[in-house]
Amino acid sequence: MTSLIEAALAARNNARAPFSHFKVGAALEDDTGRIFTGCNIENATYGLTLCAERVAVFKALSEGAQKFRRIAIAADTSILTPPCGACRQILWEFCGDLELTLANLEGKTENFHLKDLFPRPFDASYLK
Ligand code: THU
Repeated sequence: MTSLIEAALAARNNARAPFSHFKVGAALEDDTGRIFTGCNIENATYGLTLCAERVAVFKALSEGAQKFRRIAIAADTSILTPPCGACRQILWEFCGDLELTLANLEGKTENFHLKDLFPRPFDASYLK
């Protein structure tokens, strides 16, 4: 797990957050052990911002990864930063019930399962 957190912390250094100054890194591991990282990327229209988690998911999918085990998310907050609602939806739909590790720069970590952070999700199972 340490290496996944380290990958998320390293990815955070690439964040483009000139508007919020809130940098986030994510590292997503697939079922073969490959790690895909992401950072948040903001832009002048604000609304087109992509969160670190979604960047990691979309990179992984575009590289052919299909099944996932874990994600680590790193930010510089004492109360650890959880994924936003949009990212919870994307993580659920594409990665299922992931193990999540939240981490900060001081070495604090907390572990969750996505289903506990995202109860009763809407997903493709409703689209008959
Ligand atoms: N952000 C993420 O990248 N991931 C999160 O889990 C929370 C929020 C980003 C979006 C935006 O660039 C900045 O943090 C402030 O919301």
